[in-house]
Amino acid sequence: MHIPSLIERKRDGGELSAEEIGALITAYTAGEMPDYQMSALAMAIFFRGMTGEETTALADAMLHSGSVLNWPAHAPMRVDKHSTGGIGDKTSLVLAPLLACDGAWVPMISGRGLGITGGTLDKLESIPGFRTQLSEAEIYKTLPITGCLMVGQTANLCPADKKLYALRDVTATVPSIPLITASIMSKKLAEGLDRLILDVKFGSGAFMQTREEAHELATSLVTVGRALGVRSGVRISDMNEPTGEAAGNALEVTECVRCLKGEGPPDLEAIVLDLACAVSIGSRADLTKILRDGRAWAKFQQMVQVQGGRVEALEKLATLHRVPVIREMKADRSGVLRKLDAGVLGRAVLELGAGRTKASDPIDPAVGVDQMRKTGQPLRAGDTLLRIHARSQAAAELAEQRIATGIEISD
Ligand code: URA
Repeated sequence: MHIPSLIERKRDGGELSAEEIGALITAYTAGEMPDYQMSALAMAIFFRGMTGEETTALADAMLHSGSVLNWPAHAPMRVDKHSTGGIGDKTSLVLAPLLACDGAWVPMISGRGLGITGGTLDKLESIPGFRTQLSEAEIYKTLPITGCLMVGQTANLCPADKKLYALRDVTATVPSIPLITASIMSKKLAEGLDRLILDVKFGSGAFMQTREEAHELATSLVTVGRALGVRSGVRISDMNEPTGEAAGNALEVTECVRCLKGEGPPDLEAIVLDLACAVSIGSRADLTKILRDGRAWAKFQQMVQVQGGRVEALEKLATLHRVPVIREMKADRSGVLRKLDAGVLGRAVLELGAGRTKASDPIDPAVGVDQMRKTGQPLRAGDTLLRIHARSQAAAELAEQRIATGIEISD
């Protein structure tokens, strides 16, 4: 293989064969193709794009660059969802135990917060003792016991993506639909899935700003999933307003506990049920019952316990992660709440310390917002719009000033 000729072909808008893409990824993973050549190829892909066949070949090559979870033939159906990320998007924590109660296995490999969007692993780590890093041997041992688990990427899972994602991050080649597709799908399909639902979000609190962009990414993801033999569906959802009533790690887990006990909030429960229906064989009525009668809550507690978390802490997270300042933000006029901008709120929550501005930043599990009002609700001047949980009065005031720029109340 003459790597410069392959880069040249892609640079000039030509197509690479599946064999050529496979050989490039094998060489890159083995350290035989240097970063400078992969950077050039990634930039050529960024500008020239890839056909559906090329994107599928890239995802397939990255998927097989490491180990793929391999489940016994008689094992229950394996299902999962992938969300492209948003503000207050905590659906995974409710969805995984719900689907496990319905008889599926959910070997959920999740990520950390990226930009202003929250990450499942960061949220789970607000539960004292909870271990997100399980080895492959532990995953094989645990899943048959619980039916669901939520862990980070293991050392040998998709090593090509680990290398390539880090390289894309520093070469301005992240926002490329074929590269994003191959990165996401290689990691999800390494779970050994039968069915996958993709929750692609658009709006101020999402990576994709418009519905059209979300649609383009969704089509690419579903095409690759189906080509690689996994029944894949998609839900395109609006992320101009945060999901649920809380944003921030421990505050979101607290809200999930509420939802797992069948106590809403309604928008979170609706998204969870939509996603669950897309991959389950159970009806919406069955799934709603599981959520309302305590089975999903019991399953979540079992998963927390098996992954080392302190179950008795789940209903006390607000006290365990107490902050010195809880500030109520009030409506400055009467009317109807027209806008609570997810992007603006996400940035405020990140600045409070719930997210990272660089990979090495620590996460503060306690800070964030809760009791957020939803758009369309009537308000009176002086009503509480939301509560800000902060480390200092100054931080809370700054967050309030920022959030105020994303709020609209009108007649
Ligand atoms: N998330 C991923 O896992 N990969 C990307 O390329 C973008 C988002």
